[in-house]
Amino acid sequence: MKMDQPVKRDDPAYANQLHVAVIMDGNGRWASNRGWPRLVGHRKGAERVRELVNACPELGIRYLTLYAFSTENWSRTTEEVLGLMSLFGRYIKREAGRMKQEGVRMRIIGDRTPLDPKLRALFDWIEEDTSANDRVHLTVAINYGGRDEIRRAAGAVAREVKAGRLDADAITDATLSAYMDTSALPDPDLVVRTSGETRVSNFLLWQAAYAEYVFTPVLWPDFSPETMSTILDAFGQRERRFGGVLK
Ligand code: IPE
Ligand code: IPE
Ligand code: MG
Repeated sequence: MKMDQPVKRDDPAYANQLHVAVIMDGNGRWASNRGWPRLVGHRKGAERVRELVNACPELGIRYLTLYAFSTENWSRTTEEVLGLMSLFGRYIKREAGRMKQEGVRMRIIGDRTPLDPKLRALFDWIEEDTSANDRVHLTVAINYGGRDEIRRAAGAVAREVKAGRLDADAITDATLSAYMDTSALPDPDLVVRTSGETRVSNFLLWQAAYAEYVFTPVLWPDFSPETMSTILDAFGQRERRFGGVLK
């Protein structure tokens, strides 16, 4: 939603247009608590993603943006990194038909250049295959870091200035937004982080300037559409002032 004025909780502007971003955390702990390998937690987490995407229309979520792999996550074991990458590919292949049918438009954000070419081809394909959809906008952040995204955008802007296509004095917030991976999306209204951690971990640093944050102790593999519904109720009680004063 594009808003810079104070908004009341019952504002019709919210209706079915929410952009919710989620830092899906706690997969590893969920599995370890049961004595299982961390990848089992990631697999369970992917099932939760599928459920949540399907529930978006009834939850009033038009844009759902999910943090799946950060620029910092390369520091994990090769087994876990490869396991996650193959899970992303499997998810896309398995869900493509349903997404197409249900009107889900899928986008991948983050720097995909260091990823496996087959996975990159799959990203290109699903983005193209669902590009006519408009009911739910599912965006998955893979090899994504907020600072990395801002760095790439700054580089692209600098190249345009150098080429004489852009006037440095005419650069606005909107110019920068247009060079972010999320250029097609409104800013998030709400950022949810699961697993009890209360940090941002490099997620949507530019876009979440005025987002509301909710931190829940629920581990991602235990997160359900009902959990989201409860969080949205709490979000709906908040007054978003955007620096202004509610009338
Ligand atoms: C989140 O769960 C998923 C990714 C970061 C890929 P974690 O894997 O971070 O799970 P915890 O935080 O170790 O429990
Ligand atoms: C953030 O979770 C990244 C994703 C959910 C993909 P992490 O578990 O990697 O973050 P830290 O290490 O707790 O900051
Ligand atoms: Mg974690």
